[in-house]
Amino acid sequence: DDYQLGGYPDFMQKEMHEQPEAMRSALRGRLDERFSTAHLGGLGLDPRQLRSIQRVKFLGCGSAYYAGQVGANLVEEFARIPADAEPASEFRYRNPVVDPNTLYVAISQSGETIDTLATVQELKRKGGQVIGAVNVVGSAIARECGSGIFLHAGPEVSVASTKAVTNMTVSFAMLALLLGRVRDLSVAHGKRIVEGLASLPDHLTSILDAQQDVADAARKYTDAQRMFFIGRVRGWPIAREGAQKLKEISYVHAEAYQASELKHGPLALIDPTMPSVVLVPDDELLSKNIGTMEQIKARGGPVIAVTNAEIPDGLADTVIRVPHSEPELDPILFTIPLQLFGYHLAAALGRDIDKPRNLAKSVTVE
Ligand code: AGP
Repeated sequence: DDYQLGGYPDFMQKEMHEQPEAMRSALRGRLDERFSTAHLGGLGLDPRQLRSIQRVKFLGCGSAYYAGQVGANLVEEFARIPADAEPASEFRYRNPVVDPNTLYVAISQSGETIDTLATVQELKRKGGQVIGAVNVVGSAIARECGSGIFLHAGPEVSVASTKAVTNMTVSFAMLALLLGRVRDLSVAHGKRIVEGLASLPDHLTSILDAQQDVADAARKYTDAQRMFFIGRVRGWPIAREGAQKLKEISYVHAEAYQASELKHGPLALIDPTMPSVVLVPDDELLSKNIGTMEQIKARGGPVIAVTNAEIPDGLADTVIRVPHSEPELDPILFTIPLQLFGYHLAAALGRDIDKPRNLAKSVTVE
């Protein structure tokens, strides 16, 4: 109702705006500037146990799975131990090899998603070491895991998850930092990440303050029946999350693709009716991503660049700006304009933002 919405038109808009504060809650008391690391007391793991972890596997469904992909990238970058993410819904139905030296991370906003809960139970049955990354305290997954990282995003009502997903990724950055700092990650690198994390909430505010620019950009594409979301390495899970948001709330067909895979097939789909949202972070792969935009342009495809880099004039039809952060943390920030893009496209199409058809906030039955 109006009271709960607090003047916002819907819960998704409200929850997107709560992100800076929600992220401050997730970071509070967990960043250690003195030792350039993070404290995650809820893990219940001492440095020796943290060092004995040989692999990390993130498991969740939908957006929680994509957040897990971001987490896996961060663990590999900071801790240099193998990490990956898998949909919990798939994991529970195959016969996975459960390794006692792997840390399994079960990710869920609601803590009630049946596929993720069943995964935790299966892991425990087979002797797996599983922690939760859960928003709702006292939920089934939080109780079943017994230890982990609470997300501290506050209540989330909109079916399209925003602030919880953002807090998943920032929590995984802290987990990766912690795993890195008991291994080879240097003090200097750790310090850069701690400072980068501390400044993220203000960057979120500046992205939300520039919301009108993203709304104007999104409204240019209301005729599109289908869209690509293109990312590379760090940008790939963000492209998947951006496509997911657009699909959920606008019903526009969106497909995420790795930039490097375009030429192996999907480039055939590019034409003037197929806009591509391309993630172009200012990192070591910038020239590759510029090349991707050139390939799309050359085939007549409209390009929407989401970027914090200087890109050549005329390459993108629409540019959505993102503030500069530490490159490893770019995925956390790049998620926000894509939420806004999906939101404003859906709003322009007159969709029921908080209650998209065919979907429930948490999937508690098979
Ligand atoms: C997110 O926008 C989706 N509604 C959906 O993918 C969601 O993230 C997924 O169902 C997992 O939910 P959970 O985090 O509550 O487990």
